[in-house]
Amino acid sequence: MASHAAMQVTLHVWRQRSRDEPGRMVAYPGVEVSPDMSFLEMLDELNERLTARGEEPIAFDSDCREGICGACSLTVNGIPHGPRKGTTVCQLHLRSFRDGDEIFVEPWRARAFPVVKDLVVDRGAFDRIIAAGGFVSVRTGGCPDANAIPVPKAAAEAAMDAASCIGCGACVAACPNAAAMLFVGAKVSHLRHLPQGRAEQDRRALSMVRQMDAEGFGNCSNYYECEAVCPKEISVQVIAELNRDYLKASFLHGERKAAGGGGS
Ligand code: SF4
Ligand code: FES
Repeated sequence: MASHAAMQVTLHVWRQRSRDEPGRMVAYPGVEVSPDMSFLEMLDELNERLTARGEEPIAFDSDCREGICGACSLTVNGIPHGPRKGTTVCQLHLRSFRDGDEIFVEPWRARAFPVVKDLVVDRGAFDRIIAAGGFVSVRTGGCPDANAIPVPKAAAEAAMDAASCIGCGACVAACPNAAAMLFVGAKVSHLRHLPQGRAEQDRRALSMVRQMDAEGFGNCSNYYECEAVCPKEISVQVIAELNRDYLKASFLHGERKAAGGGGS
């Protein structure tokens, strides 16, 4: 059957031994793959061959391989997560490529995500942004009855859409300014639409934007590349909501700095 036919691709992979050493693209020609393989399975097989030859395997991140954890972080042919819209690179299959293709694989490129090794970057900046305010600081207790706190359907859906952010960082990697506004917007938005999240709305927007700036992310200038590559197809509407929350909180609490454009 055609879908199981072997194909050959040439991989060009970013190799970098450590954060402090310069990296370079290394070519791996004649990599035999099946169209049914996932992109990460292809790297697994290449690594087995490299190890058998006594060479250092390619370091890359992955965990769930089901599109839910956000660990995989590869730029494929210049596009974070590769050519399939709404798809993490762990869910990308070789059937999206053709026999004889040259495929270029690089880590996320952003100052706030330094390369640790090869294709692995340090995304600790996202954790610190969440720690700055991406939570509700009350004991939520057990699961309440669904009718105990009425939430309008539109608000519940908006919160759920924003909560689908898996924190992968593709939005940052795609943005010419390396802005983290789609990520921060999603994290602020999924709480702002729910009654439990509203009490800390001002503090959350101020402290998360402050941390985002401290980490060295850029500002949004409406390229919308973030929305185009987001594997969860999160809308730039969340950036508009973040800007509204941030501006309102700034006036109320005396902090004056534009969070950045976007999503209006
Ligand atoms: S907004 Fe999308 S691209 Fe950005 S971290 Fe969340 S899931 Fe990834
Ligand atoms: S490995 Fe979990 S989303 Fe890709």
